[in-house]
Amino acid sequence: MLAGQHVLLGVTGSIAAYQAADLIGILKQQMASVRVIMTRAASRFITPLTLEVVSEHPVTSEMFLTSGEVGVEHISLARMADLFLIAPATADIIGKLASGIADDMLSTTALAVSCPILIAPAMNERMWLNPMVASNVQRLKTAGIHIVDPEYGPMACGGEGWGRLARLDSIVQHASALVRDAVRTSNEHVTELATVSG
Ligand SMILES: Cc1cc2nc3c(=O)[nH]c(=O)nc-3n(C[C@H](O)[C@H](O)[C@H](O)COP(=O)(O)O)c2cc1C
Repeated sequence: MLAGQHVLLGVTGSIAAYQAADLIGILKQQMASVRVIMTRAASRFITPLTLEVVSEHPVTSEMFLTSGEVGVEHISLARMADLFLIAPATADIIGKLASGIADDMLSTTALAVSCPILIAPAMNERMWLNPMVASNVQRLKTAGIHIVDPEYGPMACGGEGWGRLARLDSIVQHASALVRDAVRTSNEHVTELATVSG
């Protein structure tokens, strides 16, 4: 269902960011086109170059262009997206989105999209179970943002716990189902309009 769809992938500064390259590979196997926005913190975990090569598109991270390019990129990226997937999503981006904060390219674009948003959190178990993070996740759900819950397993910081990024195939399944629902709703809307005007 992702064939021909434009997926905007937001990558944030989690230890799981290295998995973004594989995630892009799976999305592309499904014939989706993938554009990446990464935060500055994400680029400490995986390089923009890697994600550019895998996605076959430039990677965006800076809000303010300095190279003489013109355009309002967060709006053009937002307009072309059929799905905005943020994976991995840090506690930080979850908090920003829950509060409507737009202080970098990723968070600003998230406020500008009209497509479905799917978030795959990844963090240490104590962070995931923190009441403030839980409350922010709930606020996102209430706002219609979809969450792929993290899983239980070995943590990068040692031991086991809840907070591992969901399996990539599970994230892609969620993404595919969301796009299918959005396409169905849009088709139903077109049929309704045709019935009313015909
Ligand atoms: C080694 C390391 C691993 C980290 N892993 C995570 C993580 O998995 N999840 C998370 O929410 N924050 C993690 N952080 C903290 C974030 O990088 C930090 O909150 C950062 O400000 C997030 O910025 P961003 O949301 O703009 O990408 C980690 C930090 C370090 C140094």
